[in-house]
Parts: sequence; C-alpha cells; structure tokens
Amino acid sequence: SFSALTLLLLNCGGSVTAQDDEFLYDTFPPGFMWGQATSAYQVEGGWNEDGKGESIWDTWSHENLGGNIADGSNGDVACDSYHKYADDIKILKDLGVNFYRFSIAWARVIPTGRVADGVNQAGIDYYNRLIDGLLAEGIEPFVTLYHWDLPMGLEVTGGWLNDSIVDDFEDYSRVAFREFGDRVKYWLTFNEPHVFCLARWNYLSQNPFVEPPEKPYICAHNVVKAHALSFRLYDAEFRPTQNGTIGITLNTNWAAPKNPNNTDDQAASFRSMHFSFGWWANPIIRGEYPPIMRELVDRKSQEAGRNSSRLPSFDAQWTEIINGSTDFLGINHYSSHFVEYSNTSTWMDGDAEVKGSGDPSWEQNGIGWSIVPWGFRKLLTWMHEEYSYPIYVTENGYGGRGDEGLDDEPRVRYYRNYINEMLKSIKLDGADVRGYAAWSLIDNYEWELGYTARFGIHYLNYSDPNLTRIPKDSAISLTKIFADNGFPA
Ligand code: NOJ
Repeated sequence: SFSALTLLLLNCGGSVTAQDDEFLYDTFPPGFMWGQATSAYQVEGGWNEDGKGESIWDTWSHENLGGNIADGSNGDVACDSYHKYADDIKILKDLGVNFYRFSIAWARVIPTGRVADGVNQAGIDYYNRLIDGLLAEGIEPFVTLYHWDLPMGLEVTGGWLNDSIVDDFEDYSRVAFREFGDRVKYWLTFNEPHVFCLARWNYLSQNPFVEPPEKPYICAHNVVKAHALSFRLYDAEFRPTQNGTIGITLNTNWAAPKNPNNTDDQAASFRSMHFSFGWWANPIIRGEYPPIMRELVDRKSQEAGRNSSRLPSFDAQWTEIINGSTDFLGINHYSSHFVEYSNTSTWMDGDAEVKGSGDPSWEQNGIGWSIVPWGFRKLLTWMHEEYSYPIYVTENGYGGRGDEGLDDEPRVRYYRNYINEMLKSIKLDGADVRGYAAWSLIDNYEWELGYTARFGIHYLNYSDPNLTRIPKDSAISLTKIFADNGFPA
C-alpha cells in the first residue's frame, strides 16, 4: 500500500530540501575542538638529519621513477618544520586552535622501522620539543602514527604485503605511547589506508594493479590487524595511566545516488560507501568485512577462476582482536560524486557495476575536485547512522593550483560552507562530531603533485630562505569561525 509516509520519503530521499540549502546560523556544542592538520613527510624536511632513516617517500621522490612527481620535487626541505616547528606553533596560537594534528615519521624514531635495530633518541627529542611547545600554548597534540612514509627497511621486505609488519607496527606503537603518551591524549593509528593500499606509488616495485587485483586486499588485511594490535596495546598497557583516546582516519567522498529514488542507484551508493569506508570501519567496529564486500569479492574471485577469494578472512582469534578496536572514527573528506548502476566492469571489484559522475554545475577547486558542501553533511550523517561512533573530522580543505597568493576567496567560501554543513549534521541530524581539523596549516608537499598544489591557510614562498608562514584570507576567516565556535546568529 502506498501511504502518505512513503510519498513523503520518496520526495525527500537523498535530495537537498529547500530548508537544507539555507545557511544555519548557530554555534557548535560547547567543547567542540578546532584544529589544523599536517603530516611529517609533507612539512618536516630534515629528511636525513640526526639519524633519521630513509622512507619510501625519500626514495620515491629522489628517484622520481617515470617522472611521477609533477614538478620533480621532493620533501628534503619542504616547510622545514623540523627546524621551524616553533613558527608552526606560533601561527597555531594565532589561529586559536584547540589541537594540532601532525604525524610521527616512523623512520625518524626507528630508522629501519624495526625496534630491534635501534631507536633514534634524536628523533624522539624532536617530537618532545614539538609536543611540549604545543602544550605550553594550550594546544593538544593529535598524533598520527602512520601517514604514508614507510621506512625503507620495511618496504624492502614487502611493506604492507608482508604480515610481519603487523608486529613491527605494534612495536613502533609501544615506543610512541611510552615516549609521548604521558602528554599525547589523541592518537590515530593510520591515515587513509584506502589511499596507501591502492595507490601505485606506495609499492615502489610492487604494482598492486596487476591482474587479478589482490594486493590491496592483503595490504588492508595487515593494516586492520596492525591497527587492532596497536589499539589493544594502548587499551591494556597505556590507557590505565595515560587516559587518552585512540582511533583511525579513513577517507571517502560521499557517493550520492544519482537518482535518489532509483533502487539501483541507491544500491550503487551503498556499495561504494562500503568499499571505500566500510572496508576498514566494518572489521574494526564489527569484526568482519562488509557483507556486500564478502559477497562481491567472493563472486568475482570465483568468476576469475580462483579457488579462494581475493578477500582474506579473519580467524576466530583475530576476529576477537579486531572487533570493537577503536574509540572513534576519524574522517578525511574533500569532495563528493554521484553514482549509478552500470554494467561496464572496471578492474577493482567494488567499482564493478558502479559508475561515478560529477555535475556540470559544481564548482571545482584548483586541482579539479568538485566542491559539494551538502555531501559533507550526508557523509557525516551516514557515518552516524551506520556506525554511531564519535567522529573527528581530521582533514577537510581546498586545493589550489599554482601560486594563488594570499587572497584565497574560494577557500574562504569552501570552509564556511563545509563547516556549516558539518554543523547541520550535528544540530539537525544528531551526528556526534567532536572536532574538526582543516587541511592544511601551511602550504606543503602534496605528494605526487609536489609543490604545484597548495592546501595551506598559510602561504609559503618556497624561495624565501626563511620560509615565512603568511596568513591567507582563509586563516583570518577560520580564526573568526573558531573564536565564535561556529556561526552565531
Ligand atoms: C589526504 C592526505 O591525508 C594528505 O596527506 C593530503 O595532502 C591531503 N589529503 C590533500 O590531498
């Protein structure tokens, strides 16, 4: 029977209602945390100083195999935060942030990646200076253990494809908790595993895209285990005295159903979200991969004539370890797209039968990513409904191309509109979002785009010997949003 309620649901399903389009003048809950984010390789420089070991990004950028880095540049100096961390703390203070999200370079602290080979005290001293400097200004350190810069010592034995790395990561975690956990109360194990398990450039010689595609699944399996061991270690040995919180940061677009009333498109959206986000969130929160992944990858593996699935399974013991192994979900989000059913198959199982598209009316950032503020609200609300965990937004921001200078009006608008949609997800949809970090505090090394892309709210002239951090208009406008705790009427 076709009730009035069904009609109402059909009319509202997925699309933005007139009311949702309106800017919400309101403030964030008291205690909401505002912050900024960076990562070690992208800002530190000091790539071989004071005993630091080499990482895959040192090697990759120096060799620039196949000219994969847009401007052939590297992070040898980057923003020189290894020496100029006090300048970073100064601008963080001016912004009035509550926290600073940065990452530890594994190879700076443990040069080969393996604790048995030795720990580098000078590397520990560097992070102590940074942490103490932040705390002296009342800024909480929010620390990522792994933001893509794998020590070469581990890469040469197979990196994330060799399951011995699971124990190496646990050992590294123990060093970090022991050395810094008396002062660091916010931990992230991994940054965006979906990116580093799928991206070509993270496997110097081991192309994950070879058919049949199985390497991303192996990488993911090891990452989930490594995350869980790190969480269990913290929980059992460090939380009782250190009393902090630990989670993981995942990334995804919002994959909006192209036609929100079409059940095939809804299924495509469901599938996309579970292959991008659920791949990690489900095992960590529920102890197993999403049922849709299990079903599809098993079927595709069988069709490919294999006698076992490309998607590994967790045995009973591992299931117990991974199940419920996080305090919160971190999310990095920048953009959204539409998805619809399509029978054109692509190489990756989850993408098969899903076609993505943009909308010509959407504005794009300088590097071609669509700006879709309402997608941010949809995503946060979906995360809340699907998992009901506390959420920290650990990255969100606008990528500019080339030298945009200090007048970054599109970035100002981006932040205002995205932050407003986050506010709606909290106030109107009940999402438990506790904090927000903008990416990024300063212009920095954008991986394979080198220095050609700029995400900073502070400008860097890379030929200035002082690498002075200069606030862009976006820094000024974020300072006000943070001070106001949102958008008071
Ligand atoms: C995701 C990554 O975590 C970060 O390293 C990168 O610079 C930004 N997004 C922008 O692409």
